[in-house]
Amino acid sequence: MRSCVHIVGGGVIGLSCAWELSRNGHDVTVVAPTPGRDGASWVAAGMLAPVTEAQFGESALTALLLDGSRLWPGFVAALEGATGQAIGYDTTGTVTVALDASDRASLDDLLAYQHSLGLSAHRRSATECRGLVPALSPALRGGIEVPGDHQVDNRALLGALTAACRGAGVAFVEAAVAAVATGPELVLADGRRLRPEHVLLATGTGLPSIAGVEATGLPTVRPVKGHILRLGPPVAAHGAPPPLLTRTVRGLVRARSVYLVPRRDGSVVVGATVEERGDDTAVRAGAVHELLCDARAIVPGLDEFELCEAATGMRPATPDNTPCIGWTAMEGVVAAIGHYRNGILLAPLTARAVADLLGRRPVTPLIEALAPA
Ligand code: GLY
Repeated sequence: MRSCVHIVGGGVIGLSCAWELSRNGHDVTVVAPTPGRDGASWVAAGMLAPVTEAQFGESALTALLLDGSRLWPGFVAALEGATGQAIGYDTTGTVTVALDASDRASLDDLLAYQHSLGLSAHRRSATECRGLVPALSPALRGGIEVPGDHQVDNRALLGALTAACRGAGVAFVEAAVAAVATGPELVLADGRRLRPEHVLLATGTGLPSIAGVEATGLPTVRPVKGHILRLGPPVAAHGAPPPLLTRTVRGLVRARSVYLVPRRDGSVVVGATVEERGDDTAVRAGAVHELLCDARAIVPGLDEFELCEAATGMRPATPDNTPCIGWTAMEGVVAAIGHYRNGILLAPLTARAVADLLGRRPVTPLIEALAPA
């Protein structure tokens, strides 16, 4: 079944769904104020991390993340093939390191949990970690190597998705949605009304600001603030120096988590705080200080880098931190919301699931379990 679908949201979920739906023959329009620059997707680090994002007690979510990660090689090939744009997909792997003995003990607990789920993760001594990442501080207490946790350049990804959507005939309405109503109908902030056959809500943290959304029966979505930094390599007098990092490094630094994600241009993304502060999007000095301290504790060479950007993003989280994907209680309205820390990783999987839902095809049990209650 092919239909006219309007997608509310121009982040990685909205755009991935738009591209997939248009490739499935639907007539697709994305409605968003700044598609490709919207929401948490632009601010993200781009980690594709089913193992290092595995949290105690969230084994069902980890299974979903693993499913999501399996789609990435094919997704990258299709997207780069369609657009000719490289998206910085890197499969070198990840190392998580511990600063002190207590952090090491916590990492050992985490490793035992990862092994209990059958995940691929390997204990490494400090020397072995430095063999993998020579820029690591000699003071570290070893860590865990996770070969299957990868990364993509999220901003390149958003650019390529926007181009792929345009190339596939997706239309864009650059406007905010004020309300959703039965029909389904979308009411834009400027008063215009749109009446597609189907609506996909891929709003991120924007969901509560849309009037009428209570009738969909969707769970609440709360913003979980994250500070994130972008650091540029020092300018060399003669040619580009070798990159400081060539794989993602995560760290436990006196019980605080930090990650360092290298880009191909030598820059490094440092993140991220996890803060429940409602709608506060301000960049706070203390959080920036904390991230810089923790990052340089594990990679001292960052001292010479330029602080290019300090930003905050709002992760969209449901009450159980699990995405909600499926038909809602409002006729003709589908949702793909609440991707919390894993929107980039889950984008191809979510897009496929939404295409199956709109095509009236069965979805996998893992996706079925995410349907709105
Ligand atoms: N996925 C990393 C973060 O949310 O900070």
